[in-house]
Amino acid sequence: MAESGSGDGAAVRRVRRTVLVAFAGATLGGIGSVVAYALDLGQHWVGLGLAVAFLGVGGGLVAWGHGLMPGGGDVEERPPVGPPAADERAAGASLRDRGAMVGRRGLLGGALATALSATGLAALVPTLSLGPSPGDALRHTAWAGAGAQRLVTREGRAVAVDELQVGGLLTVFPRDHVGDADAQAVLIRLADDVTVRAPAEVSATAAGHVAYSKVCTHAGCPVGLYEAIEQQLFCPCHQSSFDVVEGARPLMGPAARPLPQLPLGVDDEGFLVATGDFSDAVGPGWWSRP
Ligand code: FES
Repeated sequence: MAESGSGDGAAVRRVRRTVLVAFAGATLGGIGSVVAYALDLGQHWVGLGLAVAFLGVGGGLVAWGHGLMPGGGDVEERPPVGPPAADERAAGASLRDRGAMVGRRGLLGGALATALSATGLAALVPTLSLGPSPGDALRHTAWAGAGAQRLVTREGRAVAVDELQVGGLLTVFPRDHVGDADAQAVLIRLADDVTVRAPAEVSATAAGHVAYSKVCTHAGCPVGLYEAIEQQLFCPCHQSSFDVVEGARPLMGPAARPLPQLPLGVDDEGFLVATGDFSDAVGPGWWSRP
């Protein structure tokens, strides 16, 4: 179709200006977002620039579609036979005129391409903030790699082997990592007549104690409720329960994986120690399991 210039109506020129302004706004928004990211001005400015860019592109395309493209329907009556009738010629002329409404398409197309480029760039730039892959770091906690580590309370006090009453529960941490969310564990003193059954790691118990990760394998809530008679741990978030004498096997609720077990021992001075890391990765398994 031919470009139209001075023959455009006032309404068409107005719409065309609107489209150009929208695309220019999108371009500025995209560039502004990239600049805000590069200068570390804050996420709100990056997001604001992106929002302006997307709104500009969207608004410009809507205005273009409504104001510059031919609308409505055209019905061409087919004459029975013979040469084109006068009204057929008139319809053709009408279509050509309306097609010419999209004047300066080169300018509009260039503005659209520029706006889309700036918007796309602005949308991609935040991916530069993605950190390195964690590798297998999420599979290990502070209990790993430091030899036997004493279990300590929140106050940093080492736990002696006879400190906990039968049926008691204590939240413990590695000595140098008090408060570490991944390493927190629940230490439980079982009754003397309780036999730890398979598949629990019997060798991981010490002097009637067992210890499991306190991080629920469903969604990561702290599993801190213990029913001593039933020997079950409960998660208060969605009511999962775990069998303490069977390796914290899930009994009920949405958790599908046992709580990882902490291997225990007793050092020369009579304090409980962990002889290694948990038996499995702690917490929910979204990142590696089906
Ligand atoms: S987080 Fe424990 S049951 Fe949902």
